[in-house]
Amino acid sequence: MRMSDIIQKKRDGLPLSDREIKFFIDGYTSGEIPDYQASALCMAIYFRGMSDAETVTLTKCMANSGDTLDLSRFGDLTSDKHSTGGVGDKTTLVVAPIVASLGGYVTKMSGRGLGHTGGTADKLESIPGYRLSLSEDEFIKTAEKTGIAVISQTGNLTPADKKLYALRDVTATIESIPLLTSSIMSKKLAAGAKNIVLDVKYGSGAFMKTAEDAGILAETMVKIGKSCGRNVTAVLTNMDIPLGSNIGNALEVKEAVRVIQGKQNDELSEVCFTLAAEMVSQVRKIPSEEARTLVTDSVSNGSAFEKMKEWIAAQGGDANCLSNTDLLPSAPLKHPVISDKTNYITGTDAQLIGHAAMILGAGRASKEDVIDPSAGIVMNKKPGDFVKEGDIICTLHTSSPENIPAAEAEIRKAVIFGDKPPEPRPLIYKIIK
Ligand code: URA
Repeated sequence: MRMSDIIQKKRDGLPLSDREIKFFIDGYTSGEIPDYQASALCMAIYFRGMSDAETVTLTKCMANSGDTLDLSRFGDLTSDKHSTGGVGDKTTLVVAPIVASLGGYVTKMSGRGLGHTGGTADKLESIPGYRLSLSEDEFIKTAEKTGIAVISQTGNLTPADKKLYALRDVTATIESIPLLTSSIMSKKLAAGAKNIVLDVKYGSGAFMKTAEDAGILAETMVKIGKSCGRNVTAVLTNMDIPLGSNIGNALEVKEAVRVIQGKQNDELSEVCFTLAAEMVSQVRKIPSEEARTLVTDSVSNGSAFEKMKEWIAAQGGDANCLSNTDLLPSAPLKHPVISDKTNYITGTDAQLIGHAAMILGAGRASKEDVIDPSAGIVMNKKPGDFVKEGDIICTLHTSSPENIPAAEAEIRKAVIFGDKPPEPRPLIYKIIK
C-alpha cells in the first residue's frame, strides 16, 4: 500500500477502506509516513469529508495508537466529561464530586489551558499539593476510594492524536468535522469510561462560533461514540460571554466551591447542574429530570462538597483551602477597571476577556509559558447590568503591574454598552442523545 494512493483516493472524493485508514494512522504514529503526506491527507479530508464508517475507523485506530485504560472493574458506572473549551469553564470541579456523590466513578484526564482558553489541569494545580500526575495503579485506586480521579493527560495515550493535532494546528485543518470528532472521541475512548457527556460550546469564546456548527459536531460525536460502544450525550452551551464571574485558576476554584456549596445561582450553576444531571442519568439509567433532583439534593445536603474535599485530599491537595478559600493563592495586585460610560452592558466578549486573563498571567501564549495560579479577572458586572460612570466593571488580579495596561485595554474592547438591555440568549441550546 502507498500513502500517495491513499491521498489521491481521498482527493478524488472516494471513501477509504479500514485497511487504508489503519495504514495511515500506524505509519504516521511510527514516523514512517512524513508530515507532508499526512498534511495532504488532512487537507483532502477537510474538503472531501468522511463517511460515518470512515470516521468510526479513524477514531478507533487513533484510540488504539497508544495505551488504553481498562476500567472494566467499575462496570457501567464510569463517567467522563469533555468540554470543547472556553473561558471561565470550571464545570468539572463542580460536576465530578456531584456525580461521584451519587454513585458514579468519574475518571478523567484533563488538559492545560492555551491561548484565551483555560484548562482544568491548571485550575486543580492551583490547589496547593494537588497531584496531577498519578501512576495507572494510583489512578485506579483513587477512583475506587473516592469515586473520582482527575489527572493530566499521560504520555502514552493516543500518540496519533498528539501528532495529528499539532499538524492540523499549523495546516489550517482543525475545523474538519471528521478530524475534530476523531481527535476528541479517540481520547475519550482510550481513557476508558463507559459514559461520556460532551459540553460542546458555541459563541465568541468557543472553537465553534455558531450553534448550528456546534450542533453538527455534537451530532457526529454522539453518533461515532455510540458506534464505538459508549453512551454519549452532548449538551450545547453558550460561550459568547465567560462562564460565571471568575476567570483564572485559583479564582475559578473559589467560584466552583461557591457553586458546589449551593451559594451561587446563575448561568454557571445552571450549566454545572445540567451536565451533572446528564451524567447521573447515564450512570443510574434514570430520566434526566429525576437525575436533576438528585443533583440539587446532593448540593443542598452538602454531600457534593464533602466529596469534593475527599477527592482533593486523596490526590494530595490541601482540602482546607476549600473550606477556607482565602487560603488559596491570592494575587498581590487587585486593579479595578472603572466604567467611563453610563449605560447597559450588552456583551462581554469571552475571547477578549480570556486574552486579558492570559496577559495577567492566568494563561499561556505558548505551551512553554509558566502560569501564575493567582492571576485572573473577577467580573463585577455582567451583560444586562446598568452601569454608571465610575462603577467597577471588573477587577484584575496579577503579580505583574506592567501587564495591567494591556489587559485593561482588552477589557475595554470586550465590554459592549448599549441603550437597552440585551435580548436574552439561550444558555443551553440543545441536548443531543
Ligand atoms: N480539541 C481536541 O481535542 N481536538 C481537536 O482537534 C480540537 C480541539
